[in-house]
Amino acid sequence: MLNTYLKELEGNYLFTEIVNRTQAYTAVHPEAKVLRLGVGDVTLPLPQVITDAMHRAVEELAHAETFRGYGPENGQEWLRRAIIEHDYVPRGIYPDVDEVFISDGAGSDLGNLSELFAPGGRVAIPEPSYPAYVDTSRMAGREIEWLPCTRENGFVPALPKTRPDIIYLCFPNNPTGTVLTRSQLQQWVDYARENESIIIYDAAYECFIDDERIPHSIYEAEGAEEVAIEVCSFSKKAGFTAVRCGYTVVPQETGLWQMWMRRQCTKFNGASYISQRGAEAVYTPEGQQAIRENLRHYKETARLFREGLQDMGFEVYGGENAPYIWCRVPEGYTSWSFFDYLLEQYQIVCTPGAGFGRSGEGYVRFSAFSKREDCEQALKRLKNIG
Ligand SMILES: Cc1ncc(COP(=O)(O)O)c(C=O)c1O
Repeated sequence: MLNTYLKELEGNYLFTEIVNRTQAYTAVHPEAKVLRLGVGDVTLPLPQVITDAMHRAVEELAHAETFRGYGPENGQEWLRRAIIEHDYVPRGIYPDVDEVFISDGAGSDLGNLSELFAPGGRVAIPEPSYPAYVDTSRMAGREIEWLPCTRENGFVPALPKTRPDIIYLCFPNNPTGTVLTRSQLQQWVDYARENESIIIYDAAYECFIDDERIPHSIYEAEGAEEVAIEVCSFSKKAGFTAVRCGYTVVPQETGLWQMWMRRQCTKFNGASYISQRGAEAVYTPEGQQAIRENLRHYKETARLFREGLQDMGFEVYGGENAPYIWCRVPEGYTSWSFFDYLLEQYQIVCTPGAGFGRSGEGYVRFSAFSKREDCEQALKRLKNIG
């Protein structure tokens, strides 16, 4: 018997359709300089301190005296300690070193964590959202309660109407760029504790938070260690989208640690040693300075987009403490018709909000990971949009 839930999952229409429409346009206008401004992948190269560390790791593997084979399934202890020391202790959070699991990126764990729960069951997912939560839940045959995020609720989802087994939350949010305050986050943790739900908290973009009132980690909320698993990534924080490394915190108090450890030991033989040495370099003083500079660059691109679009009269959300700019399309357009308009009139490619869920209709997403010169060029082209 096949997994019919997986078999019947529709294709990822959003990104294929963006590529198809862009290619159709460039086929007719080969001279056009198309500006790709919607993509969530990073564009700055890795800092040298990180590539040097990975080169050294490769050299170690090349010599008998320093060669090593399998590492611990849950990751190298030196990396887990560095993560705790830099990402948690300064925020008053003290996970045990064994509660941190090194992954090959947030994407894998966001999918795999679903295995902790019986097939079926109920899940609450804010929408619009990053597609992985929806697809993983569908693959497991779960019933989804959608939590619409609209401008009326400030893109902050309301609590579920029916008790879910799992709640997915992502802040700073992809695609809306929304962030939660401490008290808003606390409400979710309180809800999960009262209802015995588990929150899978996607903190892939926490590195974009500058405002001290905004929590970086769900464990800044009281009692979160009882109900929350936090999924983090070096992808956006340090440019690791190709390198692949992330980490997930599964506290003992959730009652899920043993199961997750067992699952990882069976199905995951650990992240690449080379990637983990690269990630370790992120936490050296030079690494910290280098990634801070790259993040400053992206944050400045976010500011340019946000202010540039606002000056033109667009209704714009996000882009502060977040890399995504969520832009309302003008009256009379849908997400896709505005996408076509920007492509045909200005040779600008954005991401239509409707592709992230029903409440994304009426919006497009711009990304601070876009090349700076493309962002500036786009704002110049759009100046006369009127
Ligand atoms: C919200 C969110 N979570 C997770 C990921 C995946 O991150 P990784 O590269 O670590 O798999 C992305 C990638 O864009 C993302 O936007």
